[in-house]
Amino acid sequence: MARRSGQSSPKRPHRLHRSVYLIGFMGAGKSTVARRLSRMCGLASIDMDSYIERLAGMPIPQIFEESGEEGFRRMETQALRDIAAMEPMVVSCGGGVVTRPENIALMSAHGTVVHLRVTADQAAARISDTSSRPLFQDLAAARARLEERLPAYEAAADLTIETGGRSVGAIAHEVRRALERRGVLERLDASSVA
Ligand code: S3P
Repeated sequence: MARRSGQSSPKRPHRLHRSVYLIGFMGAGKSTVARRLSRMCGLASIDMDSYIERLAGMPIPQIFEESGEEGFRRMETQALRDIAAMEPMVVSCGGGVVTRPENIALMSAHGTVVHLRVTADQAAARISDTSSRPLFQDLAAARARLEERLPAYEAAADLTIETGGRSVGAIAHEVRRALERRGVLERLDASSVA
């Protein structure tokens, strides 16, 4: 279920020593940054929402309809447990992953947590279709939800990256450099790649 983006020709081959969990509000760009980072460095990546949809056999809005938010949150925690047992990879998390302390403990125990910070207004501008996001229906509610979650994002994060007004490439590069500095991501030289 994990994808291995650009494994054949990553721009800069790297080894990931621990998983990297991208967290942040809906519309922060977690999935696109995860894809860009994994392609750039030749890393495996996984999108938690897609993983949950495959396990449940239905799209997220339908999970919410049939099992409620609580049912979805149970699946989300199970997905995190499954992913924690896999090889290190870039994991893009759903925006509500920080609502359960158990999830934060799992991510901190198994990897490095990177918060992609976004305001509700920036997120609304990026989300063209809210129909796939049952919890992002109007801007006022999104602002309130983000304000409520912000302390949890900040407490969970090992690193915080600002996303406002920046390209996906610029954000992915900053994440890469920060992970290299921490020794989580190691750049391989040509001889160790062959
Ligand atoms: C949610 C965010 C969504 C998805 C679900 C709930 C949330 O993921 O997990 O709709 O509670 O913020 P994205 O952040 O990828 O949109």
